Amino acid sequence: MSFQFNFDDSDLEIEESNVIQNDQQSNINENTITLSSLDANWPSDIIMPEYIDLKQILFTLKDVRLTYSKFKINDETEIIRRELYDIRHQIMSESDPTSTKEIVNLDFLDKDDLLRNVYEGGLTTWECSIDLVKYLDQGFNEKISNNINNIVELGCGTSLPSLYLLTQTFKKNLQNVNYMLCDYNEYVLRLVTLPNILINWYDQMHAQTENIQLLNETQENQDNIVENEFTITTKFIDLFLNYLTTNNININFIKGSWSNKLIQIINEQMPSNNRLILTSETIYQPDTMPLLTETMMKLRNDDINNRIILATKDIYFGVGGNLIDFINLLKSKYSNDTYEIIKNDKSNRSLVLL
Ligand SMILES: C[S@@+](CC[C@H](N)C(=O)[O-])C[C@H]1O[C@@H](n2cnc3c(N)ncnc32)[C@H](O)[C@@H]1O
Repeated sequence: MSFQFNFDDSDLEIEESNVIQNDQQSNINENTITLSSLDANWPSDIIMPEYIDLKQILFTLKDVRLTYSKFKINDETEIIRRELYDIRHQIMSESDPTSTKEIVNLDFLDKDDLLRNVYEGGLTTWECSIDLVKYLDQGFNEKISNNINNIVELGCGTSLPSLYLLTQTFKKNLQNVNYMLCDYNEYVLRLVTLPNILINWYDQMHAQTENIQLLNETQENQDNIVENEFTITTKFIDLFLNYLTTNNININFIKGSWSNKLIQIINEQMPSNNRLILTSETIYQPDTMPLLTETMMKLRNDDINNRIILATKDIYFGVGGNLIDFINLLKSKYSNDTYEIIKNDKSNRSLVLL
């Protein structure tokens, strides 16, 4: 089946940056960061990549109560996201200065979507991630279950594309699948990426009636079980980890910037073949577009089964990243590679398949 963009944006509660159409010149210039420039001189304000084991962050969420809402992909599939107000609520309850948890101040979110090298937009869902989910759902599903089992999402944020694949993994009881979720900010991974995974796992398990009793038993206060909420108790964590081990599903995280260091960590943790590299709304910044491009192309390596899918707006107004610069970069640096662009002319958004 060929893929078509056929959904209505009005049902999304998401970040939309303004889009303009013009014939502007390339925004990539001498400030551009590359893999080799980072290796030569790592700026002190750019976060160094670090591998984060699932358990490491999972246990910091113990006793957190998650509230969430469902987003419908089609008649059979829903993805569930943690609400932003719920994240803010957790942050407020952790703001005790004697707490060992990282103190996060999100006051700037009321004014800005992004704060360069500090916060790059990962707490909210951006609209191209839905395009990517739709593509995975309509155009790519068969291939994933057949031969792709190493999934990397770069700049994952709320990680809807990986959540879609994870829900398929849980629903179909697939085994031997590896997920590596990468984001610039550790608190994004802790406050939204992992909670979203837990919520979707809970929902998929709950849909199988034989598991309902088991899930209810993980909740300490049995009278407190309500729809669209649950608490991450020790019993819940044990049940989740046990499920992953039984099915040989690995879910891990990397915080920090796209770089050779990030590539090295992924290569140490994950087989280099049968990889699907996903990324949505990550070429908005002309200075880091080459960095992302080099990182994903190196991760894809030469294995013929490896794939990249990038979802992007055609132009990011005010920041400058754009699809034309990205394609020109591909043509100049990776001239032997073929790519396909699926354009959504109505909304100026595209998918690039590599
Ligand atoms: C605009 S948000 C998009 C989030 C998500 N992919 C979506 O579409 O909803 C950009 C994401 O890329 C990540 N990011 C930006 N610059 C990065 C960098 N240099 N290295 C690693 N991640 C970066 C941010 O942390 C953020 O999650």
